[in-house]
Amino acid sequence: MSGTDEGGGPGTADAVRGWRELAGTSVLLDGFHALKHALRFGARVPVALTSDKAAALALAADLAPDVADALDALLAETDDATLRALVPRLHPTAVAALAVRPSRAANLEVLASRPRTAPVIVLDDPRNLGNAGAVIRLAAGFGATGVVTTGTLDPWHPTVVRGGAGLHFATAVERLDIAELPPGPAFALDAEGEDIRGLKLPDDAVLAFGSERSGLSPELRARAEHLVSLPMRPQVSSYNLATSVGMALFHWSSLHGPAGGLPGAQD
Ligand SMILES: C[S@@+](CC[C@H](N)C(=O)[O-])C[C@H]1O[C@@H](n2cnc3c(N)ncnc32)[C@H](O)[C@@H]1O
Repeated sequence: MSGTDEGGGPGTADAVRGWRELAGTSVLLDGFHALKHALRFGARVPVALTSDKAAALALAADLAPDVADALDALLAETDDATLRALVPRLHPTAVAALAVRPSRAANLEVLASRPRTAPVIVLDDPRNLGNAGAVIRLAAGFGATGVVTTGTLDPWHPTVVRGGAGLHFATAVERLDIAELPPGPAFALDAEGEDIRGLKLPDDAVLAFGSERSGLSPELRARAEHLVSLPMRPQVSSYNLATSVGMALFHWSSLHGPAGGLPGAQD
């Protein structure tokens, strides 16, 4: 990349120009941790900017030495005003990047492939973008095969990506119709179902969760072979959607172990 007059070191002008060209069609990675996760899970990141490269590399040395060299090569430094003009809600780490969204065809292939070694999560008409992001983060952490949403919510909406902390690249995330759901035994989570504690969820399970407002749709109930409940004290109506996904995935992992193995807590 060439030198610059936009306030940064080598490559800044090209990086800022690249950002302007790609911003409308790319996935915004908001902050150091989102960029770190995306790089770890193989995202293609054509441009990354920061207004404090030394601070970003110090964070990398401390929290993510595995991607420190990649970050050093990728991050172009620009002045704060330029960066804020490109990214109005700049993350406190002053890092932002643009990633290429994985193709729908590639995600559909992952979701359809058998045998499957970890469940697919289905969110049936979710409404809350933060919930969807939290579920994608859970799915990534447990090594789930993917997260499928039905209904109108876009699981790649910037607010969902923000909530997912860059982990959309660690699991297959797509929106599908109920008729297109991946194959596999479907377990639909509902407070009226059979107690999950007596069940072993198979690795190829399709784990379906209802909408925050109205629960499972009749179409999803019809697709499900099993209705499963999470233990809950009487008089409590329901759990939060993302919390329910976390409990179900933990139950699955406690009897099977995650597909990729979990060495321990990560930053
Ligand atoms: C906020 S709840 C939906 C509440 C909704 N008013 C209803 O009628 O089901 C969102 C989803 O989380 C899951 N969920 C919440 N609590 C649950 C429980 N105790 N057992 C099983 N699933 C539960 C279900 O999939 C539910 O559709």
